[in-house]
Amino acid sequence: MRLDKFLSTTLGITRKEAGKLLKNKQIEVNGEIVKNGSLKVTDDCDVEFNGRSLSFSGPRYFMLNKPQGFVCSHVDDYNPTVFVLLDEVSPEKLHVAGRLDGDTTGLVLLTDDGQWSHRITSPRHECEKVYYVELADPLPEETIQIFAEGVQLRGEKELTRPAKLEILSEREALITISEGKYHQVKRMFASVGNKVVGLHREQVGNIELDEELEPGEYRPLTDEEIAYFLK
Ligand code: URA
Repeated sequence: MRLDKFLSTTLGITRKEAGKLLKNKQIEVNGEIVKNGSLKVTDDCDVEFNGRSLSFSGPRYFMLNKPQGFVCSHVDDYNPTVFVLLDEVSPEKLHVAGRLDGDTTGLVLLTDDGQWSHRITSPRHECEKVYYVELADPLPEETIQIFAEGVQLRGEKELTRPAKLEILSEREALITISEGKYHQVKRMFASVGNKVVGLHREQVGNIELDEELEPGEYRPLTDEEIAYFLK
């Protein structure tokens, strides 16, 4: 992360104000006065403001608009990971709260707060997730009832929990599920003989993907968004 961004985040000031502190020689990195805001701050940097050591306090929470082709794990031999999209100190300390497949796009939540993400991912909490789905074949009305009753996925002991299906057009729908089985949405549509050709997550709990975020962009969550899963 750039030094000016680090200062604005840790001190709660604008980048312009951070620039002034740098210009006034009020910032030291590893004991040396630094005036260049583009310097990269890494985990082993000791940044001081007027002699006071600065660090991120408290847990971090972000939403990312995941582009196609990025995976949600930290390491992958073949694909870029979502973590390369983050301009943050120690991105390796963050994890994804509810992964998406590589070809799925949309809302990904990232945090270093394990308890918080547990409320999203644990089946016990039944957190609702909303997906926009594009299908290869027309979607019959009766799929609404089939998904509401739960479907049997291959290799699973129990039916899926009731899912809400809203048909938007012949080959487009919104589906709301409250669990996160492996490839769940794709497998649910496969179980009724259809094929998902596009999948985009729009919402997790009450957190909606910010329309202003282009694919690959991210922002910190607001206090209100964070609070939803602290309850
Ligand atoms: N269901 C899927 O099939 N894939 C995802 O990425 C998310 C939900």
